[in-house]
Amino acid sequence: MTFPKQFVWGAASSAYQIEGAATQDGRGPSVWDMYCRSPGAVYDGHTGDVACDHYNRSAADVALMRQIGLQGYRFSVSWPRVMPEGRGRVNCPGLDFYDRLVDQLLSAGIAPFCTLFHWDYPYELFCRGGWLNPDAPQWFADYTKVVVDRLGDRVKNWMTINEPQVFLKWVHGEGQQAAGYRHSMVDQLRAAHHCLLSHGQCVRAIRASAKMPVQVGWAPCAFMKLPRSQSPDDIEFARRASFAVANKDVWNNSWFYDPILKGQYPADGLALFGGDMPTIRPGDMEVISTPTDFLGVNIYWGDPVEPLATAPGGFANCKLAPGHPQTALRWPVEESSLYWGARFISERYAKPIYITENGLSAHDWVHLDGRVHDAHRIDFTRRYLRGLQRAIAEGADCRGYFHWSIMDNFEWGQGYKERFGLIHVDYATQKRTLKDSAEWYQTVIANNGASI
Ligand code: GCO
Repeated sequence: MTFPKQFVWGAASSAYQIEGAATQDGRGPSVWDMYCRSPGAVYDGHTGDVACDHYNRSAADVALMRQIGLQGYRFSVSWPRVMPEGRGRVNCPGLDFYDRLVDQLLSAGIAPFCTLFHWDYPYELFCRGGWLNPDAPQWFADYTKVVVDRLGDRVKNWMTINEPQVFLKWVHGEGQQAAGYRHSMVDQLRAAHHCLLSHGQCVRAIRASAKMPVQVGWAPCAFMKLPRSQSPDDIEFARRASFAVANKDVWNNSWFYDPILKGQYPADGLALFGGDMPTIRPGDMEVISTPTDFLGVNIYWGDPVEPLATAPGGFANCKLAPGHPQTALRWPVEESSLYWGARFISERYAKPIYITENGLSAHDWVHLDGRVHDAHRIDFTRRYLRGLQRAIAEGADCRGYFHWSIMDNFEWGQGYKERFGLIHVDYATQKRTLKDSAEWYQTVIANNGASI
């Protein structure tokens, strides 16, 4: 069995993680540029200043993507590269870079999938309160218009915001990512509400400015809960747990998916957050639930769950057996994550989905024979893709898969310690080496998944 005919085989990246060129051609600072400079914030003081120098090497990088046979490439636009202060002045050379990239992709036969925000928030706007400022949605919409005015005659697929859960929890909740706030629940929920409004305004701005028919979505994390057995009860239990708002934080699915796709915040979350909720003005939920065309989901693993004896209806992650497979980052390998993720999400929201990120960090290096033998990545991806294929065969409407990542890159707080790429990057020389997994993926793409 293969995948659907139009299925898009792709890979993903984000601007701050690969571009480098932090001060080149008038790029302004982002919260990540600042955060990397706070002592102890990022592993070994690493920064994205140079990263993979993709800004200066995009033509060669796109040639490698073409060699792999990618059909789609998910990248993000750096807001402060395009608008150094986040609003107002447009930095033309910055915009030109994405213009060139899109042309390079299109002439290589690769469909651009463009994300407008993947965490590198303009520092100037952060100083004005960032996502907490009620003007944040307007700022984001204005920036969107600038990008779409320029690229919207060639880019068909757009994503608004990447993983709001992660930057809201780690940035605003626990202070462990840029810009390192520790906010009250009230402020976290307010920032989340402004993010959701920003998403909605962004969808509207994309549709208003695009010069061709577009497909618009977003790319949240999907934290999947997995059934501990195949019994119908366990499956139902995992489904409920996957969409529950069980803890007083923004680390869940429904707090974001439901407003966007159903036009309302989930009832369990409203009950839990109670008086911490921000004011919802008339019209807000309409903006937030502006119709989208697809839902991108980033899935790395899921957690098998079991009922919590002490709290009726509650759930806990099952304890994993000693020696349970794990990636270099010590994330569990749960091969059924894409299966249940694609199934549960498409059943609940009845929206076409893309797997916008999936992959693993591994201890890769260039072997004596000059090649990178990353058998773990091949095996991991095969297992996960088999699950995805099964979900599709059973009716999940999944339109594509984007491996994270096209190349090794700046893994946020972990710096360059973690290697997630299909392409190995030697950071001292910027030499690229296709890993075995890239060659394997090339075959998978060529036979539309028949060989997994
Ligand atoms: C995320 C981000 C990526 C990460 C990747 C691996 O999912 O956290 O979207 O930028 O690099 O997920 O952690």
